[in-house]
Amino acid sequence: MKLVTVIGARPQFIKAASLSRFLRPSLKEVIVHTGQHYDENMSAVFFRQLQLSQPDYHLGVGSGTHGQQTARMLSGIENVLLIEKPDIVLVYGDTNSTLAGSLAAAKLQIPVAHVEAGLRKFDLNIPEEINRVVTDHLSTLLFCPTQTAVKNLEQEGKLDHVYMVGDIMYDSVIHFKQTAFQQSKILQILDLSPQDYYVATIHRAENTDTPERLKAILLSLLQLDQIVVFPMHPRTKKMIEQYNLGSLLSSAKFRIIEPLDYFDTLYLISQCKVVFTDSGGIQREAYMLRVPCITMLDRTEWVETVQTGWNHLMGSDTSRIADLVSNLKVPSESPPLFGDGHSAEKIYKVLTSFPKK
Ligand code: UD1
Repeated sequence: MKLVTVIGARPQFIKAASLSRFLRPSLKEVIVHTGQHYDENMSAVFFRQLQLSQPDYHLGVGSGTHGQQTARMLSGIENVLLIEKPDIVLVYGDTNSTLAGSLAAAKLQIPVAHVEAGLRKFDLNIPEEINRVVTDHLSTLLFCPTQTAVKNLEQEGKLDHVYMVGDIMYDSVIHFKQTAFQQSKILQILDLSPQDYYVATIHRAENTDTPERLKAILLSLLQLDQIVVFPMHPRTKKMIEQYNLGSLLSSAKFRIIEPLDYFDTLYLISQCKVVFTDSGGIQREAYMLRVPCITMLDRTEWVETVQTGWNHLMGSDTSRIADLVSNLKVPSESPPLFGDGHSAEKIYKVLTSFPKK
């Protein structure tokens, strides 16, 4: 069996690393990197650290409007699929790379396997929602991380080949946590002690694409009572410059740093008091590392993290931040919301029993 894996954005490298380990010994896996993320610390570092094989094809599409970027990927992926003629195309998550991979494959009538299927925020104004809805409906094999995702697909009439496999990101956390904790020197580098700081990561379009919203978020973080370590996504950096908000970052409250690799991210989060984020990945990683999270969005697709009391939605009223933090109760329990850490094995079994054309 030959499989083409399409990846392009940071979280996809983390997920693909966990599945690739299972696929490689017995399947032929061809990796296509769309080039959606291209900075060293947004891409190459993850391949090295997580021992993900170098891409067989690098499309180098870079940044652009959604239409430009997706179109370049679509055309590049189609070329690869025509050459490689795989039995299955594997896509992850909800980025433009996911959409382009599933669309290129479906048009060539190649079955698509979607890892992280069924997630919904029920808001098509969010670019990722468009990507995931379209991808799910083009996919033959749907690998869901949660029971909620399975239900969402059911409601859209997707009942066949839906597999509840748990969250592949949990596999990654379990596999790399010990090494990350041993190797990361991020607290020494930043001269911080455990529990003495917060972590903030902001990059979603909902939060960065209007100056009012981005400014309100930065101002709210400044109200916090401890240092906020802020690994800054290039998109956020760009928008802060564009909106002339840079002066807010000069406060001693902020420790603005470059995007971190996977090991430093896991360790930095694991030792912090609270994480403030709009990243779906970090909401789950916080839960997996038993760290309270405040999500700077109106909604989340990871509803289980909210239901168990580990995640709190800040919504549009950023002035609530100090109240949210002071009333935060750290739950004593963290039930296994994301499976057993063996998602890759489950996905591998389904893929290898899928009949070849
Ligand atoms: C993308 C995904 C988002 C995911 C995130 C993970 C889409 C629509 N969004 O968002 O779902 O959570 O990746 O990080 O696919 N840039 C650089 N260097 C890079 C990459 C990006 O400078 O290596 C800058 C460029 O200015 C670019 C901007 O960041 O225009 C946004 O990058 P893009 O890939 O379009 O979206 P992300 O915000 O990274």
